[in-house]
Amino acid sequence: MKFFALAAALLPLLITDANAFPMSNLESRTDYASIAARTTPGDKPVIIQLFQWNYASVAAECTEFIGPAGYGYVQVSPPTESISGSQWWTDYQVVSYTLTSKHGSRDDLKNMIDTCHAAGVKVLVDTVWNHMAGIDSGTGTAGDSFTHYSYPPTWDTSNFHYCGTPGNDIQDWQSRTQVQTCELSNLADLATETETVRAKLAAFGNDLMSLGVDGLRLDAAKHMPTADISNIVGRLNPQPQYITQEVVAGDGDTIQGSEYAGIGDVQEFRWTTAIQKAFSGGGISSLQSFTDSQWTDSAHANVFVANHDTERGNAAASLNVNSPSNTYTLANIFALAHPYGTPTVLSSYTYSSVDDGAPNGGTGSCYGAGGVNGWLCQHRWTAIAGMTGFRNTVGSAALTNWVSPSSDRIAFGRGNVGFVIINNDDAAWGATFTTGLPDGVYTDVISGSANFTVSGGQLKTAVPIRDAIALHVGAKA
Ligand SMILES: *[C@@H]1O[C@H](CO)[C@@H](O)[C@H](O)[C@H]1NC(C)=O
Repeated sequence: MKFFALAAALLPLLITDANAFPMSNLESRTDYASIAARTTPGDKPVIIQLFQWNYASVAAECTEFIGPAGYGYVQVSPPTESISGSQWWTDYQVVSYTLTSKHGSRDDLKNMIDTCHAAGVKVLVDTVWNHMAGIDSGTGTAGDSFTHYSYPPTWDTSNFHYCGTPGNDIQDWQSRTQVQTCELSNLADLATETETVRAKLAAFGNDLMSLGVDGLRLDAAKHMPTADISNIVGRLNPQPQYITQEVVAGDGDTIQGSEYAGIGDVQEFRWTTAIQKAFSGGGISSLQSFTDSQWTDSAHANVFVANHDTERGNAAASLNVNSPSNTYTLANIFALAHPYGTPTVLSSYTYSSVDDGAPNGGTGSCYGAGGVNGWLCQHRWTAIAGMTGFRNTVGSAALTNWVSPSSDRIAFGRGNVGFVIINNDDAAWGATFTTGLPDGVYTDVISGSANFTVSGGQLKTAVPIRDAIALHVGAKA
């Protein structure tokens, strides 16, 4: 029963992660490469989060679709031994660093990495360093028995924080000490300031690097001091090409994502919230200038319309596949068109309960421009795959020619290589747009089929209700 109680307990704690204190301890390390720094035209900056896909199905999809479509990275679910169970969140309750998870074996992981590399796709692994399991006892996915604070042969009771609050749980989200040394929903909190813990976590990281992993998504990074993450990352050889860190922060919070920008990118959940609000009645014209000085800067931000937590209303709320009036798709189009941050596209599944694990035995399956067997395959949607081509083509080109004549209508260009029009209004939007594009006939990458003529740099058209048009120089008719 503890099992289910834990999932329920996780929701309110993550949702109320909003505090009030100025930030401090800004790091200025620049010795770890960020994908953002490599985001030049011709590069492939778009990440797909293939949530809960087993590794064999990730490999097949890299070959069949992901590589040819031009995505740069797949982010896969955690590979280590975890507690047993069908729920998705078992992944985040680590039992050992044996690479035997519900997503596959060590060999499956290695084969997936090699297959994706052969398709031109890099692999980002969701990595849990902050904590072990939260349940009292059990047997993990590789057959190891454990009790809370004892995970033989890796950890014993001396390797954990006991912060002294009731249940050792975080109670004061404004306390840096509590957030970083108490337990997040009972998850046993590793003493990452100690040499023993750092050395073993680095050995786990190096095991991933030895298999050819390209980058890491660091789960619960906010719950580890930056000094501890820096120390562990510094021991990795080779260095990850890309790191993104889960730091859920609101304006005024004690711990800010910008503190972590010296290590790698930071997931900017304020962007996710701003997008949800803008597309849900707040007005997308607000997106012309929507960041503030506390947000992680664009070069270090990793952004998404939704991830596995937010689509369930966890960690932060967001749009999701059930959002009305095509807003989820339109927001993903904006995410891939706008220059702020490195974009991640969530590829997930339908569920009836927020705890539900993967459908179809974890074998991801897509067909044509969509998903089958319970999978959504957002990465195959014509608009999203088309906008990945747009992002690859426009690279770091400047945002140009912004117009927003009313609150739910925006259009903007990227240099003279791309132009997007988003109409989140309940009436069609007829206008003549100054695109900056070379004259010619372009195929709209949202529909994948309609052709538009740019003449004298201008496009005269009517954008349907709650729809979009995106043209770029890599998609001329
Ligand atoms: C758009 O142009 C392409 C390339 O010329 C063509 O194959 C396609 O049929 C056109 N689409 C429509 C809807 O006419």
